[in-house]
Amino acid sequence: MSVILRAEATATAPPLVLRPWREEDVTALVEVYRGDEPLRRWTRAPVNGIDDGLRWLDVRRRGWRAGTYFGFAAFEELPGGVEGRLVANVALKRPGGAAPVAEVGYWTAPAARGRGVAPRALEALTDWAFRTYGPDGLHRLDLLHQVDNTASCRVAEKCRFLYESTLPARPPFPNDGHLHVRRAPDAAPGPLSVVGGSM
Ligand SMILES: CC(C)(COP(=O)(O)OP(=O)(O)OC[C@H]1O[C@@H](n2cnc3c(N)ncnc32)[C@H](O)[C@@H]1OP(=O)(O)O)[C@@H](O)C(=O)NCCC(=O)NCCS
Repeated sequence: MSVILRAEATATAPPLVLRPWREEDVTALVEVYRGDEPLRRWTRAPVNGIDDGLRWLDVRRRGWRAGTYFGFAAFEELPGGVEGRLVANVALKRPGGAAPVAEVGYWTAPAARGRGVAPRALEALTDWAFRTYGPDGLHRLDLLHQVDNTASCRVAEKCRFLYESTLPARPPFPNDGHLHVRRAPDAAPGPLSVVGGSM
């Protein structure tokens, strides 16, 4: 399945184009992780070099095939529809399971932070997820972050993932986490049972 998503330009930033990760992205992926402490601290599987990067990309490739994990690379879109630099990663995790619940994850490349990239990419992913699965197939999206990851908390707030509860720490993350939730546009409020757990 090949899916292309877009986020409109803002007054200060070009449009974004989001597409499934490809093997050819490995060099840019490794570059993003190189020496970036927040990425290593706040995400589950740091990428250390090309071999690691290829494994990371293979997990995404297999996820798309199995329909269990949809990872998108986000690029700035240059005039003429040309793909510019890699700026972010967003992912939809474990949709289509027994429970109509899935989880989202994201990061922004260090050089692109503080310009609303993650919220715009996450909004595009959220919209696609709810449209793809419909209100019966996907009632809500969960977003988890460590309590002290204030930048991620801001992304959740900007994208209307409402704070729901604080969850106890779970390895490999040392601190408690925030659970934020965004419900499908037509979903009725209901009891919560957390099925995810990665940040
Ligand atoms: C969290 C993260 C995805 C935010 O992405 P972003 O594209 O910078 O998002 P925004 O531009 O909306 O900024 C969000 C917050 O980051 C902080 N921020 C602002 N400028 C920043 C900069 N230059 N560098 C780092 N953080 C900055 C601010 O708190 C901002 O909130 P504000 O807009 O209310 O001031 C990004 O910091 C990141 O990739 N962090 C490491 C990985 C991570 O934490 N992923 C989430 C795991 S749950």
